[in-house]
Amino acid sequence: MKNEYTPIGELGKKVGEKVNLRGWIYRTRSSKDMTFLVLRDSTGTVQCIVKEGAKGFDDAQKALRESSLMLSGTVHEDPRAPTGIEIRVNDLEIVGWAETFPLKEGTNPEVLLDKRHLSIRSRKISTTLKIRSTILGAIHEFFRERGFYEVQSPSITKMACEGGSTLFKLDYFGEEAYLTQSWQLHAEAGIHALEKLYCIAPAFRAEKSRTRMHLAEYWTAEAELAWCTHEESLKLQEDMISHVVQTVLKKHSKELQELGADIKKLEKVKGPFKRVPYREVLEILKKDGIRMKWGDDLTGLQEKALSKHFQKPFFITNWPKEAKAFYMLENPKDKRTVLCADLEAPDGFGELIGGSARETDNKRLMANMKLHKIDPKPYEWYLDIRKFGSVPHAGFGLGIERLTMWICNLDHIRDAIEFPRTINRVYP
Ligand code: 4AD
Ligand code: MG
Repeated sequence: MKNEYTPIGELGKKVGEKVNLRGWIYRTRSSKDMTFLVLRDSTGTVQCIVKEGAKGFDDAQKALRESSLMLSGTVHEDPRAPTGIEIRVNDLEIVGWAETFPLKEGTNPEVLLDKRHLSIRSRKISTTLKIRSTILGAIHEFFRERGFYEVQSPSITKMACEGGSTLFKLDYFGEEAYLTQSWQLHAEAGIHALEKLYCIAPAFRAEKSRTRMHLAEYWTAEAELAWCTHEESLKLQEDMISHVVQTVLKKHSKELQELGADIKKLEKVKGPFKRVPYREVLEILKKDGIRMKWGDDLTGLQEKALSKHFQKPFFITNWPKEAKAFYMLENPKDKRTVLCADLEAPDGFGELIGGSARETDNKRLMANMKLHKIDPKPYEWYLDIRKFGSVPHAGFGLGIERLTMWICNLDHIRDAIEFPRTINRVYP
């Protein structure tokens, strides 16, 4: 067989021609003198007909679903075929014989997760992974076009960026260390050299809760900017989300439809997004008969109820100091609050982004650490930054799986990543 292979997605341009294909059997059905198989590659599926007399016919009859193969044949238009195209096969060779595939429609979700190394071949997961790849590409494009430098940050640290309750402890050559919750604190050092930074990396949270929104290892796109105000940071977040959503729509409208995403609603995702002070959130929820007191974080149910009031993503701004991390800048207009915002997705898909302006005053940082009961020792270097030409700055972190989950309309965050890590799953 020749070395040139046509991706299945490009067969529409090759009607009447001879082609070589390679892929996996998606479905197969045989009669005495004919085998119908649907071949799958990463670009699509196509129906192939192998008649008695074709080279490899006997193997085609025996091969089970997910066997890999190479074939050559001619491309025919056929309105009865699901994609309007059919391959009449002359020559077929099995590359990897498959045993009986253990997964089928209706398989228990836990089994699908135990066999994740196989279930990623499913249409739903592979389509989601393609969209996720486009999302990451669009984020890189967004930052690079705006003159940001991409940096990489350590995954092993001595610090609890987002508080001690979700830290993964690590034995670092006899010393206690942690898997990082966020690159942010190191990024705050970097802006004094590069001014505008971004980083796309894994973050780790020992989340004890089993929710459809939490992973123990997730990916985050974080940005940090020197000379940046809180409002400028919000504008940048708006532009980034709009750019990503519009890029995905342009490239994947067919796939989004397949996943059941609301395309009309996604088309409207363009800035500005509403800014709702935390104080107003309490009032909105109260009117809905939902109690939440000053200082509380939103539960999933509260997020869902609140999001019913908004068609597009919306910011919750000016949170109470005690509800947020020690590094956030005090709000000069209301000292009980900090200049921060969470960007919430519509339809109860939860928090997409957390961000804030940063405190640059070491006295106030020390006081905040005391408030949050943080030992200042591992943070000495962080405080040191402020002693050498500190500047106003701000930044934010986006959860890649949350964004993917919302855009693709997924029921559970685990389907937004290839191999999910949750409280009860670190295999495969
Ligand atoms: O709101 P978070 O905790 O903010 C930070 O980590 C800041 N240091 C970011 C910054 O300012 N540079 O996390 C950021 C985002 C959340 O908005 C959410 O989308 C996602 O990360 N996230 C999670 N995603 C999946 N599973 C989890 N357990 C997550 N925890 C946070
Ligand atoms: Mg947050």
